[in-house]
Amino acid sequence: MLDNILRDCQTAWIKTKTKKNHPFRYVTLSTVSPDGLPEARVVVLRHFDAANYTFKIYTDARTPKMKSINTTPTVELLFYDHRKLTQIRVKATCEEQKHDAALFAQQHEAAQKDYTTAVPPGTPLKGMDQLEYTEENHFTVLTFKAIQIDYLRLKRPNHQRAIFNFNAGQWEGSFVTP
Ligand SMILES: Cc1cc2nc3c(=O)[nH]c(=O)nc-3n(C[C@H](O)[C@H](O)[C@H](O)COP(=O)(O)O)c2cc1C
Repeated sequence: MLDNILRDCQTAWIKTKTKKNHPFRYVTLSTVSPDGLPEARVVVLRHFDAANYTFKIYTDARTPKMKSINTTPTVELLFYDHRKLTQIRVKATCEEQKHDAALFAQQHEAAQKDYTTAVPPGTPLKGMDQLEYTEENHFTVLTFKAIQIDYLRLKRPNHQRAIFNFNAGQWEGSFVTP
């Protein structure tokens, strides 16, 4: 039963690759700022590796989240499927930050542009017409490795919740009170 839950999570994350409207394609990435404050934002899940339980996202290397991750590499990824009333909270550690020129070259032109603003994301502008782009890109792939998975499905008569921890190379799960 616990194994089925973990397998369902995996299946859903894998589906995001081909089903662009899958609810898990957009994930809330929560970090802790260098000041110790919580911060959350939506990002796109670009890849899930079922063998290693790693999640990849793309970002601009100059975004504030990078400073946060460099100070506190442990993050939480929050997935929610509104159709199944299912929430999955994944605690994970950022294990790689990579400027991947080959992968950048594969992105659509419009997507590439997102990583080429003249000034870092979050810099104040007098107006949106002041936004400028350069030839230089700050495309970065972040890889997060899961260390804990907290699964919750609301259903009647009983909700279902299970927590899995990655210990000594394997997942150990147990049901918990929802
Ligand atoms: C639908 C949606 C998808 C987004 N996808 C990404 C993404 O894949 N990567 C990313 O860095 N920011 C993405 N963003 C923007 C982030 O939510 C955030 O505003 C930005 O990364 C700056 O975050 P930071 O200032 O906390 O570093 C997305 C925003 C929305 C609304």
